Amino acid sequence: MRIGVFDSGLGGITLLNQAIRQMPEEYYLFYADTDHVPYGEKTREQIMRYVSDSARFMIDNGCKALVIGCNTATSVGISHLRKEWPDIPIIGIEPAVKPAMTRYRKSGRILVCATAITINGEKLERLIERLKGTEVVDKIALPGLVRLAESGHFEKEPVENYLRAAFSGLDLKAYDCIVLGCTHFNFFKDSFQDLFPGTPVIDGSRAAIAQLKRRMDAAGLFITPQEKEKLAGQPQIVWYESGRAVTDESELARIGKLRERWLELN
Ligand code: DGL
Repeated sequence: MRIGVFDSGLGGITLLNQAIRQMPEEYYLFYADTDHVPYGEKTREQIMRYVSDSARFMIDNGCKALVIGCNTATSVGISHLRKEWPDIPIIGIEPAVKPAMTRYRKSGRILVCATAITINGEKLERLIERLKGTEVVDKIALPGLVRLAESGHFEKEPVENYLRAAFSGLDLKAYDCIVLGCTHFNFFKDSFQDLFPGTPVIDGSRAAIAQLKRRMDAAGLFITPQEKEKLAGQPQIVWYESGRAVTDESELARIGKLRERWLELN
């Protein structure tokens, strides 16, 4: 059985790559809901429905565990998914405010970058309150980065121009840590680092996959030698876009490019 990794688009490749790094023996199904990306510009009701349909597809196709590799989908839908499929480990990703506050903050501020849905969501609000960060955490939505990532534009100039304009009202020197709270933003880590030299730019993907690994271990879900034999010869990753298997060479090349970009940055 495979591990299902989901995102609205290709940002979830971050989690997929991280999962393969930590569990290279496993087999994966990657599901990008490309018909509906960007989620950050949809309503919560729409996102709930998209996420639920996508999770059902992955489970119907035999996934033994799910990674919701999308902060927006996690923010809106993870508790519903866990209620609907209580026997399947379902791991989400949320902005890494906890390490930012507890490990990286000195006396300055924290900047959380995400989609508008995540930024305005109750889940993030509660997390910041729990960590007593209300007075020191700033939040900003960067929808343009989702579009740039989906269209494969990583050239520094347009990316950094966009970021500079978005950050124009902020004192960039005030921050002790930048949190990338949208999986698409991880492909632009180098540009964030250029704008915030010397400041840690972090995301929660490593911790999320470590959590998945613990949950799978506890549930005895790691691949067995028998399964390995059965799956031998099959691709380690099967790719789906909104329920359709991806076979088109140019689309597979686009995906491959994003996987490589992540590996270069991480
Ligand atoms: N990658 C997603 C996230 O982590 C959302 C991007 C979008 O669809 O707007 O929030």
